[in-house]
Amino acid sequence: MERFRDRVAVITGAGSGIGRALALACAGRGCKVVLADVEAQPLADAEAAVKAFDIETLAVKTDVGNAESMAALADATIARFGAIHILCNNAGVGGGGLIKNQQLVDWKWVIDVNLWGVIHGLQYFLPHLLKADEAHVVSTASVAGLYSLPGLGPYNATKYGVVAIMETLYFEMAEDASSNVDVSVLCPGLVNTNIASAQRNRPEHLRRVRAPSSRDKDRPAAGDASKRNAAIAAALEAGKDPAEVAELVLEAIAERRFWVLSHPEHLEDIRGRNDTLHALANPDPPRVIF
Ligand SMILES: NC(=O)c1ccc[n+]([C@@H]2O[C@H](COP(=O)([O-])OP(=O)(O)OC[C@H]3O[C@@H](n4cnc5c(N)ncnc54)[C@H](O)[C@@H]3O)[C@@H](O)[C@H]2O)c1
Repeated sequence: MERFRDRVAVITGAGSGIGRALALACAGRGCKVVLADVEAQPLADAEAAVKAFDIETLAVKTDVGNAESMAALADATIARFGAIHILCNNAGVGGGGLIKNQQLVDWKWVIDVNLWGVIHGLQYFLPHLLKADEAHVVSTASVAGLYSLPGLGPYNATKYGVVAIMETLYFEMAEDASSNVDVSVLCPGLVNTNIASAQRNRPEHLRRVRAPSSRDKDRPAAGDASKRNAAIAAALEAGKDPAEVAELVLEAIAERRFWVLSHPEHLEDIRGRNDTLHALANPDPPRVIF
């Protein structure tokens, strides 16, 4: 993208973490910023922070997993600004646990937000991006979309899916002579955000049902689970500043780069996975785990 000033940037999950930082970074470059999030108060707070850059903003309470809600976000953006140049499909949730202990509602919630959120973004925003003189779409995946982290089955599945969708879109846009849409995928390692408390946004109808006591022996003891959660929260706290990650994304948009990896230390694990695949050897667990 040649210039950012007065471009219209839409960011999902803009109420917190990486999305909030992306909104601030876009505002800092003079974009008009549309903030979307399912949580009303953090969304309002983020909008107030973005307004300090003296740019035009629009905040829309949005559930990315819901098709009507995402269609309404696109409509509201067009009604207000008339065009869309940048889409950051960023909203996401993480839920941990071994695959043998997952319930269908665990899979459904994570897939609804992380995978359908991106699909809805492309469905309703791509037609507008294609009309712009230049445009860019970036979706937030994870290093968990490049190698599989034990204990994060549903999350890994969605993030591999996001990488696959964005890679496919990159090829398709590159082949389409009439397209001015550039494509990136963000694959962060640990970033200091609120993702450890993602359950705060879990809809009531997708909450876990208590397993019958006969199966409780297969589940981790509550103490183990809370220790694990505390360890994840501590690791996230020591993670990268979201503002640094947002700057990398904006640089990639300016330079039309596809891959945005905020943590180069993960390249070794990515190469390791590819090497075992190339050798048709059984996979090794990654060296760096959440
Ligand atoms: N933090 C990390 O270490 C890390 C690492 C790799 C990838 N990611 C990815 O980064 C993205 C942003 O997460 P974050 O770390 O900033 O977490 P965060 O919890 O701080 O922010 C996520 C935001 O998404 C919003 N959200 C949740 N469900 C939503 C829904 N259904 N519709 C709309 N908004 C919704 C939340 O309200 C929140 O504001 C996610 O896709 C996540 O998977 C994060």
